[in-house]
Amino acid sequence: MASSSSKMLIILMVVGSFVLASANFYQNFDITWGDGRAQILNNGELLTLSLDKGSGSGFQSKNEYLFGKIDMQLKLVPGNSAGTVTAYYLKSAGSAWDEIDFEFLGNLSGDPYTLHTNVFSQGKGNREQQFHLWFDPIADFHTYSILWNPQNIIFYVDGTPIREFKNTESLGVAYLKSQPMRIYSSLWNADDWATRGGLIKTDWSQAPFTASYRNYNAVDVCVWSSSSGSSSCNSNSDNSDSWLSEQLDNTSQQKLNWVQKNYMIYDYCKDSKRFPQGFPPECAVNNAS
Ligand SMILES: *[C@@H]1O[C@H](CO)[C@@H](O)[C@H](O)[C@H]1NC(C)=O
Ligand SMILES: *[C@@H]1O[C@H](CO)[C@@H](O)[C@H](O)[C@H]1NC(C)=O
Repeated sequence: MASSSSKMLIILMVVGSFVLASANFYQNFDITWGDGRAQILNNGELLTLSLDKGSGSGFQSKNEYLFGKIDMQLKLVPGNSAGTVTAYYLKSAGSAWDEIDFEFLGNLSGDPYTLHTNVFSQGKGNREQQFHLWFDPIADFHTYSILWNPQNIIFYVDGTPIREFKNTESLGVAYLKSQPMRIYSSLWNADDWATRGGLIKTDWSQAPFTASYRNYNAVDVCVWSSSSGSSSCNSNSDNSDSWLSEQLDNTSQQKLNWVQKNYMIYDYCKDSKRFPQGFPPECAVNNAS
């Protein structure tokens, strides 16, 4: 008896760990480039990208999504990361593509990373907002999330909203609503522009540069099937798809205002030199209030 019930326990534990492991990097992502510089470790719980003088590296999701609420934890390249860029983004295919970007621009030791964000709809971007962070992103993992639904796109850092891109089709601005996107990430050398406009070059004596990823979470997503040409939405643990209509509530709006007031270092919607004829229409509603 004792031995058969302990066998049963072992079987249950194996089944249980298989279920947990199903949200892992092996199951959800493909390493797409870098010739061995990207690695999936710890039974799929950890992914590392690295960059040296020969090449960077990258991965992409197996699934395509048409709306979703996606979390990933990243720990950025430590030390002197000037010239390196760690990009984490959603992107569709084609020449009139949609894209939602997080890009982390490295810096000299002790100088702050810049978090660069952008939104492309039907191939049109030029919607940069940049931030410094209120913590040291190399000391530990932090959660970077995107909520993308038919009403709005919200960028979050550790659950705090930092940027919102509302659906402003009523103002004539194309919205990201019909092209399924994959998740991509890459670590590459961009010392021609990334750090202080390209003044500071990558110090290859510090290579390899490594960024780490864990705890990918995409429970609330609509997964696209190209064979059926439709998407099917997963419900989350409380069986609701409220995320599909989620917007900032007042508390979150206040947090967003706090971040934009204290940590935003560039906003295209305030760059009047760049838009002498007037700001793009979406700027009327996407400014912090
Ligand atoms: C690097 O550090 C400088 C000095 O603090 C800062 O102005 C800049 O925004 C930082 N980031 C990049 C990518 O240059
Ligand atoms: C949220 O803010 C709006 C406008 O600022 C206000 O009208 C509304 O009463 C607020 N709601 C709550 C729950 O505080």
